[in-house]
Parts: sequence; C-alpha cells; structure tokens
Amino acid sequence: MMRSCIIYLATLSLFYTGACQTNRKAQTPMPSMTKTVFGKLPDGREVYQYTLTNQAGCKVQIINYGATVRSLYVPDRNGKIEDVVLGYDNLQGYIDGTAYFGAIVGRYGNRIGKGRFQLDGKTYQLTINDGENHLHGGKVGFNKVLWDATVIRDTDNPCLRLQYVSPDGEEGYPGTVTLKVTYTLTEKNEVRIDYEGTTDKPTILNPTHHSYFNLTGAFTNTILGHLLLIEANDFTPVDEGLIPLDLIMSAEGTPMDFHNATAIGARISNQDEQLAIGKGYDHNWVLTRKFENRIRKAAELYEPASGRLLTVFTDQPGLQFYSGNFLDGTAKGKNGIAYQHRTGLCLEAQAFPDTPNKPRFPQVTLRPGQIYRQTTIYQFSTR
Ligand code: GLA
Repeated sequence: MMRSCIIYLATLSLFYTGACQTNRKAQTPMPSMTKTVFGKLPDGREVYQYTLTNQAGCKVQIINYGATVRSLYVPDRNGKIEDVVLGYDNLQGYIDGTAYFGAIVGRYGNRIGKGRFQLDGKTYQLTINDGENHLHGGKVGFNKVLWDATVIRDTDNPCLRLQYVSPDGEEGYPGTVTLKVTYTLTEKNEVRIDYEGTTDKPTILNPTHHSYFNLTGAFTNTILGHLLLIEANDFTPVDEGLIPLDLIMSAEGTPMDFHNATAIGARISNQDEQLAIGKGYDHNWVLTRKFENRIRKAAELYEPASGRLLTVFTDQPGLQFYSGNFLDGTAKGKNGIAYQHRTGLCLEAQAFPDTPNKPRFPQVTLRPGQIYRQTTIYQFSTR
C-alpha cells in the first residue's frame, strides 16, 4: 500500500495529469498516468484503475484485477475518440463475468484436451472447466486474480507493469510461475504488451490478451461489417470440443481464408463443418512462419464506417480469432449495454491450442533458468 502510494506520487510529479481529451484538435494533452480506486474484493483488497493517456489523446484504462484493459479510446477518421473494447462499469462485473473481457489469460490461453499433458514423463491433470477440457487457465485463471501494479517511470510513454506469482500446483500446473505483463501506450497509438515469465520447476506457459474489439464506436453494433486480414495461409481445424485435430490445414478457398481483407460476416453463415463446430469463427491461424520469434504483422481489422484500423503485431506462432459467438446479451457491460451476439471479437496472439499434446506444434515448455517472452502490439490508425 505504502509502496504503491509512493510510486503514485512520483508518477504525478513525472506526468502532467491532463483531463481526457474528447477531440484530437483540442489542446494537446501531455502523456499521463492517473490511478484511482476501482473497487474492493470480497476479502477487502482494493483494486485500482490506471488511466494511461498519450499526447494524441488516446486513453487506455487498466485494472489490476485480471491485468484487464477496461476501456480503450481511439480516434475515428474525423478525430472522434471513442471506446473500442467491451468491458464492465464496476468490479462486480469482472468478478462475476465469464467472458474474459480485456483480461490477461493464463497460464494457458485457450484449451488443453481433457486438461491433461505430460512433461518429462510425468502426467499433470489441470482443472476441467470447459466441457471435458481445460480452458484459459482454469476456474481461477490469471483473469480472476489481483496483480501487483508498478508504474514504470524510465520511459516517455505511460507504462504500467503488472506482476502475478502463480503458486506451484495452481489449477494443476507445476512450478511457481512469476509473470510480468507490461502495458505501454505509445505515441503511435499502440497498446504494446510485453510478457516475461519464469518458473522454479519445468512447466508450460502460454498467456494471451483477451480484449473484445468493436471499432464502430457503439457496442450495439455487431462486428460483422469489420474487414479482417490475417497473415496466415493455414489454420488448425478442431474437433467438437474445440481441440485441434493434429493437423495444419490450408485455409485457401474456405471461409477461413483471410489472406485478403474480408468482411467477417461475408461467410460466417456458410455451410461449413468448422464454422458449425465453432458456432462461427473460434479458431487458431498459423501465422506466416518466415519471421517466427520476431515481431511481425499478424492481422489487420478495419471498420469502414469509422475508418478505424487495428493492426496486430506479435512474435507468437498463432492467432486465435474468436468472433464473439458466445455473447448472448446476458453480460451487461459499460453504460448498461447488454452485449449481444457478435458485438465484439478477439484476436489472441499465442501458441496453438493443446500444444502440450501435439508434439508437432511449436512448444511452450518453460524450465527454470529460461525466460518466457512475448510481445504483442495493438496499433490503432485510420484509413
Ligand atoms: C476464447 C475461446 C472461445 C471462448 C472465449 C471466451 O477465445 O476460443 O471458445 O471460450 O475465449 O468466451
């Protein structure tokens, strides 16, 4: 508590905490970081919201429960700044929510078949929380825990580091894992996410970020008119439980082909076995391998009416594109809006689902002495 107060005061003196700008042409704000109390957990611990603002007037709000991006304000082609991610108005929404809005997901983003895997000859059983499978780290994943937050001062950009120490055995995973996630809001209107993880025993680690984007500026609109391009030729087809078959398949000529920018709604209702299983798009694309382990463009999401363009960069091998198929109006989000079917979509950079059981997929084993790293950048511009 004392420590975070000191850091906070130091931050206030470092950054001018200008008011939120609603118009880009208005007086240019300085980059800033503010901290407010967002709520209290049932055990009494306080949850904070950090507001990062850049000079272009973009703003990202992050809470340290789930290391969650709660809102993200970016301009349209006329400079109108609006929120483009789904979320809740209050902490209770995040405590009760089941959709992973804006959270860091882990230890393993997406599914592990039957929640079981072998490592160094030992079988581990993880929590089963999605049919007969393990999903997004289990019942209490990284999205449902309180992270320690530190404002990073040695940068020109507002920058927040969150850290969570996951105890040995949590949700069935071996090893004590320490994960640091650093959010930076740059002057290029990028939300940059740097991950760094370590362990004290051999384990697996594959975290991801789970924002639901809707670039229209109104969460009552669906995302079906957004144009999506994915830098991939192949995807991993799945079984009925959304576990990849041990196969990498060409997307060419199928509704999975996003090599050229295509409206999400154009083929989502096609008669297609994979779309039927996913109830829409809920698949992993195999990002072009040429630059594997280096940050390269993974996807572009364009919304023609607003002109907003989101470009995703990552060093990860895969991208899970989920078209918000499970949203059904039960989640009451910001400003009391009930999020209806396909009013948000996720672009989750990660290793492929069920990798520990698929030796041919790029592996995610982490051993003591090694450092897990990931960088994923969500860059906003207009066209
Ligand atoms: C991921 C999964 C989906 C779904 C959502 C959360 O993207 O692939 O099947 O579980 O998260 O609702």
